[in-house]
Amino acid sequence: MPSVRVLITEEQIRERLRELAAQITRDYDGQPVTLLGVLTGSLMLVADLVRQLPLRTRIGFIQASSYRGATTRPDKLEIVPTLLPDVRDRHVLLVDDILDTGQTLNQVLDHIRSLRPRSVRVAVLLRKRGRQELPCEPDYIGFEIPDVFVVGYGLDYDDEYRQLPYVGVLEP
Ligand code: XMP
Repeated sequence: MPSVRVLITEEQIRERLRELAAQITRDYDGQPVTLLGVLTGSLMLVADLVRQLPLRTRIGFIQASSYRGATTRPDKLEIVPTLLPDVRDRHVLLVDDILDTGQTLNQVLDHIRSLRPRSVRVAVLLRKRGRQELPCEPDYIGFEIPDVFVVGYGLDYDDEYRQLPYVGVLEP
């Protein structure tokens, strides 16, 4: 059983989310917002973020995947449209766990924009340094991390480790 080396502690995540929630609250300035989490990795982030937003909120999820285990599968994403709430004319905050190459967010963003929301912003917990192949500048970024495979706080290896309250690196 591999062990997990802590990279970002539970306390650091809590503190950073407080800051991001304050920034999001200021930016939306009383306007209702639909948080749209990219499944499954954004689950914790959506839950922890939305509880700190004193705004009218809706929650929806979009299912898209490009990863299996620890390997990239750069082909086209599968998006399950039936899970999506109606976002037409609404302010959408797309929430994802990690920005790596940018493939996922770019394709999901294209899909959301085709549904004609009033606005779209992007929040990610993590951004991997030096990995982006496609231009994608999230409006809210929790932490910049080095190019390592991370698990915890929603992030998985083979669908495990998501429940860890911190972000860590798998060690053999
Ligand atoms: P792209 O390359 O499309 O990747 O930006 C984004 C998606 O890939 C997954 N991903 C990871 N999952 N640990 C994980 O558990 C990682 O280090 C990692 N890097 C990328 C994730 O699903 C993300 O939404």
